[in-house]
Amino acid sequence: MKSLITRELFDKVILPIYAPAQFIPVKGKGSRVWDQNGEEYIDFAGGIAVNALGHCHPKLVQALQEQSEKLWHVSNVFTNEPALQLAQKLIDNTFADRIFFANSGAEANEAAFKLARHYTIEKYSPYKTKIIAFYQAFHGRTFFTVSVGGQAKYSDGFGPKPADIIHVPFNDLDAVKAVMDDHTCAVVLEPVQGEGGLASATPEFLQGVRALCDEHNALLIFDEVQCGMGRTGSLYTYQQYNVIPDILTSAKALGGGFPISAMLTTEKIASVMHPGVHGTTYGGNPLACAVGCAAFDIINTAEVLEGVQKRRAIFIEQLENINDKFKVFREYRGKGLLLGAELQPQFHNKARDFLNIATDFKVMILNAGPNVLRFTPSLIIEENEIKEGMSRFAKAVEKVVNS
Ligand SMILES: Cc1ncc(COP(=O)(O)O)c(C=O)c1O
Repeated sequence: MKSLITRELFDKVILPIYAPAQFIPVKGKGSRVWDQNGEEYIDFAGGIAVNALGHCHPKLVQALQEQSEKLWHVSNVFTNEPALQLAQKLIDNTFADRIFFANSGAEANEAAFKLARHYTIEKYSPYKTKIIAFYQAFHGRTFFTVSVGGQAKYSDGFGPKPADIIHVPFNDLDAVKAVMDDHTCAVVLEPVQGEGGLASATPEFLQGVRALCDEHNALLIFDEVQCGMGRTGSLYTYQQYNVIPDILTSAKALGGGFPISAMLTTEKIASVMHPGVHGTTYGGNPLACAVGCAAFDIINTAEVLEGVQKRRAIFIEQLENINDKFKVFREYRGKGLLLGAELQPQFHNKARDFLNIATDFKVMILNAGPNVLRFTPSLIIEENEIKEGMSRFAKAVEKVVNS
């Protein structure tokens, strides 16, 4: 019997802020997804860098099932075991001493920006509030986070914005220097800009920004919502740069598909917080944290982290094969399995066409802006799945090139 739940229903009942594909996925396993008609897709999108262990990983399913029969929610009036376990894992493996859990990347960033402002106001001056951020950055959709994000298309049209936020070009240390002063509260950046086109910070830039922050008593905040938790081949990307932030945000891969986020910071910075200053009903709830613990234990292994670079190499080799034939890509960007292929100028503004036509050939990919294709598959995708997905993608590329 044909389902009564159709894609047309989306256009009637859901707030019109998305333009989803014409098929409706109903099942996923590993790096494969099936739609209502039983058609099978290879997933190179991973729920936008979320499903780091693919769909329905047995260990995550088991963690969710077991926790679902024990305790779902107790609020923050009480603590719970999975939250404490996950916090301890994050602390044991990063620079952090203190964790705040929330439900989405935007909420973790909102907490980070509030904490930074609160810290510098409490410790230094009520005027130490300037936040330096970067063009093309993306930090979420709450009003504070779109305002810190550097893309007018997301932040304009909603009236007056939070004040004292300034944007400068990414990877331009002189530009940061020019606006940095003793009123600066924080510099906020993504070590690899996820939505903005997959530019990676240079080591000199990150080191330079760290030094400027130290000089002016400003905090350095890394948004690793997209590039963190194994995606670039280390647990967090900052670990590849040896530049330690004061605050770091994590989400997406942290829950492997179950909504959870975390803000990590040091004891010193956390010391300005006390009960009532910030909060959330669901953050750190036992279901999310139980899944987070299971995902963490799998991702934080040499096997998975080292596998990221091997898989990136296979992806690039396959993309090169496509490029030899069709000459569509100009360069490869990003790190690890946060992989971008920038289109040649004649295909600029066509990234969405590649993505849409790819679904006709049963492979799911993403774009990062109008000129870059983005691949954020499961960190444990099999080699044969990469190759099969790429042979499907090659047909999509051929169709776009010939259209
Ligand atoms: C770097 C970065 N920060 C923040 C966010 C917002 O996360 P969420 O959509 O979970 O609020 C995203 C989402 O794409 C992101 O890529």
